Amino acid sequence: MSYTIATTGKGGVGKTTISALMVQYLVANGGAPVLAVDADSNANLNEALGISYDASVGAIREDSKTEVNKLSGVAKNDYLDMRVQEALAEQNGYDLIVMGRPEGPGCYCFANNVLRDVIKRLSANYKSIVVDSEAGCEHISRRTLLEIDFLAIVSDCTVRGVRTASRISDLVDEMGTKVRRRGLIVNRVPGGEMPEGVRAAIEETGLPLAAVVPTDESVAAMDAGGIAIGDIPANAAARVCINNLMDGLKA
Ligand SMILES: Nc1ncnc2c1ncn2[C@@H]1O[C@H](COP(=O)(O)OP(=O)(O)O)[C@@H](O)[C@H]1O
Ligand SMILES: [Mg+2]
Repeated sequence: MSYTIATTGKGGVGKTTISALMVQYLVANGGAPVLAVDADSNANLNEALGISYDASVGAIREDSKTEVNKLSGVAKNDYLDMRVQEALAEQNGYDLIVMGRPEGPGCYCFANNVLRDVIKRLSANYKSIVVDSEAGCEHISRRTLLEIDFLAIVSDCTVRGVRTASRISDLVDEMGTKVRRRGLIVNRVPGGEMPEGVRAAIEETGLPLAAVVPTDESVAAMDAGGIAIGDIPANAAARVCINNLMDGLKA
């Protein structure tokens, strides 16, 4: 399966948890090599996957403000290319790149333009890409130029949450991000039983419902213990649900 997937949604709804489970699915089901992109400024996809990383693209951009000016045009590109290669956290079946915090004051135009190209070029080396993104996917549209095959808009199991998800879906379009397919994932649904009010709110938004992920005690227990969510068992409810969703995307 070869695919570019992005998760989006407001903070705390489960984007990172779901992204990690998607990466693991792809690695196990013919989607490797996978590029996992942590595009949330509060980066913690690495923790969900149980790995560490050395540098973020944001840190490279920050460093290169001064470094790059000492170099000529071609050398600037090569330098940034090399730094991004170094920043890739290489794992079995996937690599992680962390976008990091947005830029502070100063001129980053050159570094931004080059880094955008780098991510775009880098993506060509992978069979599938999973982007853990913050609401609006600014990083995807402006920083990486990636086109999304499937946008997973994640919501909690509330009417307000679903309406927020719908606004975020509109925001992604306003940012000019190309999205081929999208679906709503309602996460942390008690007992996997969606309340009638939430179901009605989803219908009002017109968003296609892609998955209903039950509240999963194993996810909560992992988090409480500081253990990677990616280590939840093969039969954990949240994992089974995301695996089913991913199986469905193949069709
Ligand atoms: N299906 C689930 N069942 C139980 N807890 C969950 C579930 N999905 C996510 N969580 C918990 O919710 C919290 C927020 O999840 P996270 O993936 O970090 O959200 P986000 O990336 O959207 O901010 C975490 O503590 C996570 O362990
Ligand atoms: Mg997150």
